[in-house]
Amino acid sequence: MGVTIVSHPLVQHKLTIMRDKDTSTAGFRRLLKEISLLLCYEVTRDLQLTNITIQTPLMEMQAPVIEGKKLVFASILRAGNGLLEGMLDLVPAARVAHIGLYRDHETLLPVEYYFKAPEDIVNRLIIVVDPMLATANSAIAAIQKLKDRGASNIRFLCLLAAPEGIERFTKAHPDVQVFTAAIDSHLNEKGYIVPGLGDAGDRMYGTK
Ligand code: URA
Repeated sequence: MGVTIVSHPLVQHKLTIMRDKDTSTAGFRRLLKEISLLLCYEVTRDLQLTNITIQTPLMEMQAPVIEGKKLVFASILRAGNGLLEGMLDLVPAARVAHIGLYRDHETLLPVEYYFKAPEDIVNRLIIVVDPMLATANSAIAAIQKLKDRGASNIRFLCLLAAPEGIERFTKAHPDVQVFTAAIDSHLNEKGYIVPGLGDAGDRMYGTK
């Protein structure tokens, strides 16, 4: 496993506009939704297909559909929901897990306040989403929680990552592939990704 950088020009272009501090809340939210469609396309690129028999208006044929059980998208609240929305537009039948973790601003450690996942996650591919992989504390904790419930086929999708976060994450969960649009320079002393885009949740929801 490792890290996949989604370098598609549309992703990179949209990310640049999102980073700009003068981009409005509405613009940021719209871009996050658009970018999530492109990221979802990449994270699902290698899903296995199986043929089923269908009847077109002209004849019977064997045609491919995605094999296996429905996917699960697991959103780390609250910023994860910004990626979730577009992903559900592309895969409307996906099941959804919500994992409520906030980052204690003093310790930077994750504190869990909510967890709700489908019952049968054991044999499903789970794509965990959170726009920012900074310290990776939340992502590591969220994935551990899913593994404790029996999940074993997990991918992690974010928009921006810090090298420190990538290192910690891949040490904690070497079996989980990370997909990101970019890896930035470093984390600052407050745990923000630099140059980054600020607080993704605040920029999405106009809080702060
Ligand atoms: N979370 C954010 O929203 N932004 C960062 O830079 C780091 C964590």
